[in-house]
Amino acid sequence: MNSQSAALSSATPRLESIRSPRQWWKDAVIYQIYPRSFADSNGDGIGDLAGITVHLDYLAGLSIDAIWLSPFYVSPQADAGYDVADYRQVDPLFGTLEDFDVMLAAAHARDLRVIVDVVPNHTSTAHDWFAAALAAGAGSPARARYIFRDGAGESGENPPNNWQSLFGGPAWTRAADGEWYLHLFDSSQPDLNWRHPDVLEEFDSILRFWLDRGVDGFRVDVAHGLIKHDDLPDHDFDAPFEGTGNFGPMWDQDDVHAIYQRWNGVLAEYGGERIMVAEAWVSPPERLSRYVRADEMQQAFNFEFMTVGWDATGLRRSIDAARAITGEVGATTTWVMSNHDVVRHVSRLGLPDPTSWPKGISASDAQPDYRLGLARARAMTLLVLALPGSAYVFEGEELGLPDHTTLRDEDRMDPGFFRSGGRDVGRDGCRIPLPWSGSEPGFGFGPTDKTWLPQPVEFGELAVDRQDGVAGSTLELYRAALALRRGRALGAGDLTWHVSTPTVLHFSNSGVRVVVNFGHSPLPLPHGLELILSSGPGAVVAGGLQPNHAVWLV
Ligand code: GLC
Repeated sequence: MNSQSAALSSATPRLESIRSPRQWWKDAVIYQIYPRSFADSNGDGIGDLAGITVHLDYLAGLSIDAIWLSPFYVSPQADAGYDVADYRQVDPLFGTLEDFDVMLAAAHARDLRVIVDVVPNHTSTAHDWFAAALAAGAGSPARARYIFRDGAGESGENPPNNWQSLFGGPAWTRAADGEWYLHLFDSSQPDLNWRHPDVLEEFDSILRFWLDRGVDGFRVDVAHGLIKHDDLPDHDFDAPFEGTGNFGPMWDQDDVHAIYQRWNGVLAEYGGERIMVAEAWVSPPERLSRYVRADEMQQAFNFEFMTVGWDATGLRRSIDAARAITGEVGATTTWVMSNHDVVRHVSRLGLPDPTSWPKGISASDAQPDYRLGLARARAMTLLVLALPGSAYVFEGEELGLPDHTTLRDEDRMDPGFFRSGGRDVGRDGCRIPLPWSGSEPGFGFGPTDKTWLPQPVEFGELAVDRQDGVAGSTLELYRAALALRRGRALGAGDLTWHVSTPTVLHFSNSGVRVVVNFGHSPLPLPHGLELILSSGPGAVVAGGLQPNHAVWLV
């Protein structure tokens, strides 16, 4: 063990479980807010913290338990805020620390907990530490906080290894003096060296800063990436890999868990109600459950489930596996269908192959069938919200928003589009500013018609005010399903399968029967049960559940 590894492990004694008896997160519904696209209060076209405060009653009316905010910290915004220059300050784009405190207090007053993003794998190149590292030169202590190396080749002209950035191109960039630094994402996002004690101490302090302000937890960005294999070996990118996650010497290294055991201790200082949720793209699912052992994080996103798509057999397998594996470590699983990094599920499920997993959809790709995708998405909502465990809702999914699939290249902002030379269209399509009012400029996103990404015209019909109080709308479906889920404590329930075939999933939880029709013909429903919720007005015709629909019965 080198001295830096020793620093990591000596500072991280394994802790006893600090879990409180209540463990609110185990069945919580957590709503993801992507602040720049949620609501704009000042008319600059970018959503902000004050915009969130304005809409807290709307959120509380959804019967959710918590909100999670993607980054709003000081940042050059090269990766929409996932490139942090100051972890303790609000970027003026989003407001001020005072705006944050106001929002937090107002959320708490409505019994909504607030989780914030922490981005520990990398800083921005605009962070003071990186500026100091560049200025201090090769071999300096300031550089040791990042991953600087000599290049390969006669005069170091080649990157130190063959690692690729997730956004395309090499994962190394050369500094002016000839050393190279590692960045698993954009060149403006240098990876931190998590073997360095300064890094460990700094992030303890960052966590405490936000915990002191009263946040209820953290979503941990790229949680599986902080520790790299010590030798930084080349990786065989063509090696077969049966899974959905990242694989290689840069991901999911065993030592990463010592960091989360340490953070578990930091959160424990604040009582047993604060949580961490891992963004960890790892496979197989057994690897993911390591992040939610009793002395580490409380939740991890179950991305494997998200990637299955419209496939009854795959969903059944995924649900059972996730429940079994997290159950073994005393955790519950999370059900996620969309977030700010993936094509919205309304669009995915409307593709010719509803199990496909495109990185983005552009005008030159096959376009999703919106009506079909929405029907399936609404059926999936009834499936997911009836499952035991915790559920995540990505802003706008309660409106049935699709991706913007015809964005012009000149409007794109995602570094993934630029670094891949346009091969990946990137994630802008799922990040379009929300429509609050069908008739106002910018569909009521803010007080002007400005929106940082253009909205498709279809967003007008899907705006909150067009769905509010309208029977059969997607918004009212979410409101009803979430209220029933809470009232019947489905998140804390248990699951019994009745039928599971390639065309039908049928289970019960806490007295509620859930039937989903994945087939192409109507399905007779069980007799003698009362319909309490259906995925759409035409779901049941003459006692038959129509294809691409779901019902809850009691
Ligand atoms: C995570 C974020 C994503 C970001 C990346 C780099 O995957 O969810 O939006 O680009 O990390 O921070």
